[in-house]
Amino acid sequence: MKSEETRITEYLFPTLIQVTHHPSADIFNAELMKEILVIRDEVPNGKPSNWSCDHYTTMTTEGRLHSRPGLKSFAEFVTACATHYGEIMRYHYGDKRLHLNDCWLNIYGRGHSQDIHNHPNHILSGVYFVKVPKGASNLLFYSPHYKTMIRPPLIVETPANCLSMPYPPNAGDFVIFESSTKHSVPYNDMDGDRITLAVNFSLEPLVMK
Ligand SMILES: [Fe+2]
Repeated sequence: MKSEETRITEYLFPTLIQVTHHPSADIFNAELMKEILVIRDEVPNGKPSNWSCDHYTTMTTEGRLHSRPGLKSFAEFVTACATHYGEIMRYHYGDKRLHLNDCWLNIYGRGHSQDIHNHPNHILSGVYFVKVPKGASNLLFYSPHYKTMIRPPLIVETPANCLSMPYPPNAGDFVIFESSTKHSVPYNDMDGDRITLAVNFSLEPLVMK
């Protein structure tokens, strides 16, 4: 009689993507839009000149939007989500704390996109979807193995074997991930504004010197 094989398949180094839907998304987003319209009028497009992609962003022109009184509750919401993510990851901060460091506005119209990138020098990064017209582009995540050069064809793509995974945008969702996770926004083939607030979290001393 043939002895049974013993085999273990481990899933090591998963990429944690945490999605939290705001409990009062419609009201919350309506309030955010009032502030966003002011920002859009006041703050010029800060798209770096060396980007090959196009969209309106305040990343370089006003990257600390969370300090505005009108975005106080937004800052509290995303910080609570980041804290929960840190608990799942068993982060230990010691004499430091997780700190909302950057917050900027992105508006994608027809033909706009964002190249593949990550956010160096930060711990966690996230995207909150304020406005999502029908057919707006996904947020596309990339596997740490996405540069694999030889890959056999797949019977079916799964989270275990795919090299990229689209996250469909949904107004009221906050998506948070490790800042090293590569992501992009593919060509936005629709009319109307796809509006997001992006954030970075870093570690700061508990007592600022
Ligand atoms: Fe990003």
